[in-house]
Amino acid sequence: MNQPVMGGVAALNVPTYIKQQKLVNWVAEVAALTKPARIYWCDGSQEEYDRLCAEMVASGTMKKLNQALRPNSYLACSDPSDVARVEDRTFICSATKDEAGPTNNWMAPGEMRATLNPLFDGCMAGRTMYVVPFSMGPLGSPIAHIGVELSDSPYVAVNMRIMTRMGKAVYDVLGTDGEFVPCVHSVGAPLAAGQQDVAWPCNATKYIVHFPETREIWSYGSGYGGNALLGKKCFALRIASNMGHQQAQADGMGWLAEHMLILGVESPEGKKHYVAAAFPSACGKTNFAMLIPPATFKGWKITTIGDDIAWIKPGADGRLYAINPEAGYFGVAPGTNTRTNSNCMASLGENTIFTNVALTDDGDIWWEGLTKEAPAHLIDWQGKDWTPASGTKAAHPNARFTVAATQNPVIDPAWDDPAGVPISAFIFGGRRSTTVPLVTEARNWVEGVYMAATMGSETTAAAAGQMGVVRRDPFAMLPFMGYNMSDYFQHWLNMGEKLGQINAATLPKIYCVNWFRTDEQGHFVWPGFGDNMRVLKWMLERIEGTAGGIENIFGTTPRFGDLKWDGIPFSPEEFETITSIDKDAWREELKLHDELFAKLAYHLPTELTAVKAELEKRLAR
Ligand code: GTP
Ligand code: SPV
Ligand code: MN
Repeated sequence: MNQPVMGGVAALNVPTYIKQQKLVNWVAEVAALTKPARIYWCDGSQEEYDRLCAEMVASGTMKKLNQALRPNSYLACSDPSDVARVEDRTFICSATKDEAGPTNNWMAPGEMRATLNPLFDGCMAGRTMYVVPFSMGPLGSPIAHIGVELSDSPYVAVNMRIMTRMGKAVYDVLGTDGEFVPCVHSVGAPLAAGQQDVAWPCNATKYIVHFPETREIWSYGSGYGGNALLGKKCFALRIASNMGHQQAQADGMGWLAEHMLILGVESPEGKKHYVAAAFPSACGKTNFAMLIPPATFKGWKITTIGDDIAWIKPGADGRLYAINPEAGYFGVAPGTNTRTNSNCMASLGENTIFTNVALTDDGDIWWEGLTKEAPAHLIDWQGKDWTPASGTKAAHPNARFTVAATQNPVIDPAWDDPAGVPISAFIFGGRRSTTVPLVTEARNWVEGVYMAATMGSETTAAAAGQMGVVRRDPFAMLPFMGYNMSDYFQHWLNMGEKLGQINAATLPKIYCVNWFRTDEQGHFVWPGFGDNMRVLKWMLERIEGTAGGIENIFGTTPRFGDLKWDGIPFSPEEFETITSIDKDAWREELKLHDELFAKLAYHLPTELTAVKAELEKRLAR
């Protein structure tokens, strides 16, 4: 293709290997609107990655870490106003408000376009527009989907290379008429001629916008994480959840896009299961996905398929098959260390981008919880001198690492398998200091959906706003739902019913867990991390039909003797503090379920209100 230079507009410079006119037209259209100084088509090569990183080191956006201690690794520190997802600036612009539902911000598509247009007009002036082609899921797989992100942030381009299958090969799959999700991203900081850039450009005005009807994503004003790496939350959850729901209208079944880790667990006898677990942001998915069993669990093996997102599709055999659409981890740094997650630490040895962690005097990284004792001197995430006496956090609580999944020492051999892995159980877990017991097995699919739908969790630093308040976070999807939450509940119920008709015996069991109950002093009672294996083992034995338990108001829970305790001094009294059911607390809890259901009344499945009535009856006994 030729390279026309239009009057006053950057040359398109379309590489000859691009065969799709629709894609070229769209890039030209966005360039005409955003007016970048240059257009650069990413090929995904190592040489390109190294060059973009070197450019960012030169411009001050990133620092290269000590090559001997942390080879090929970088530190980026964001503007203090741009450190997490912005849920109150995130919009689902479906044709009607009811389609977005009461849990989403909504604006009519026409009105939103009229709002965004002036913001995007000229927003890339003085900058390079990167054309970033990517595949969510293995390249060319029938379950994968393609996206193209146009971004004026080189930080986004290099992160996308780690987080997705990014590069030239995507265009071969796209061909002359393949479908792609168009993603437009700008930091919203145009540069006037001669204007000096800042290290982390962004804009106080932010919009993270999804148009489900046309499957478009437009993001403005932020360069951070889920706001800017549009393959992740915007595409793989919000747009994909829509796609899976729409597919149900076409084939009567559809599929699921979930905020779930996927792990493989193998017993000493060589029996292997895969489970998927939904925990809200910064509640332990990465840790659980790479779990290292206690030393006394000889022969038990945990392997990782994914740590954040699962695409789950029904197979002809009536089982659910899951893939991880991502290719890397954008994980929480604080709290990670060789004791809590040595697999994770081993993944971060090289080729890693760190964002908003602290810098040591010898050019390595540090964060709260990495070592028991903090170094005597650091440069904190805001670039200031820091000592243990500073009284501030050296790393931001939502500081993250970006690393390729292939660096995980316990990556599952099937992690890249386009067919996915069969799911034996779903786990739902919130961060609750009270009320919710360690683990409960739902008596059936509908009760499990109820548990997931009414899940509450204390908010974390992963999103801007107040921390530590309990909010309902159905399926850990509250910030990521691309359509009406009640319709989503119905979609889950419908899928369970249909899969059960094909083979009731293979319908995944559903569990609710809580690692986070505290004692009077506010300390976690459950040791968590590797010791979560004790709960996981019980679940697998339940699936195999070999473990005992006791039925209570909400489902089945293990008795003290049903868990394996070798290797930790955990008393029956401590077990009681994290498994007891306080009826008064649960009466209050059910009032919160009432509030949620009142909010979600439109299209709320009657099966769920029936479960609630049943639980209330049991509670009154
Ligand atoms: P996103 O990437 O934001 O979706 O979150 P995630 O669920 O992957 O978060 P991650 O696993 O990185 O959670 C990090 C936080 O959870 C850190 O503060 C950890 O210390 C804490 N955490 C993880 N597992 C456990 C556990 O078993 N017990 C306790 N008490 N804390 C845990
Ligand atoms: C989350 O907040 O759930 C994340 C991090 O996984 S971000 O990609 O920033 O959304
Ligand atoms: Mn997440």
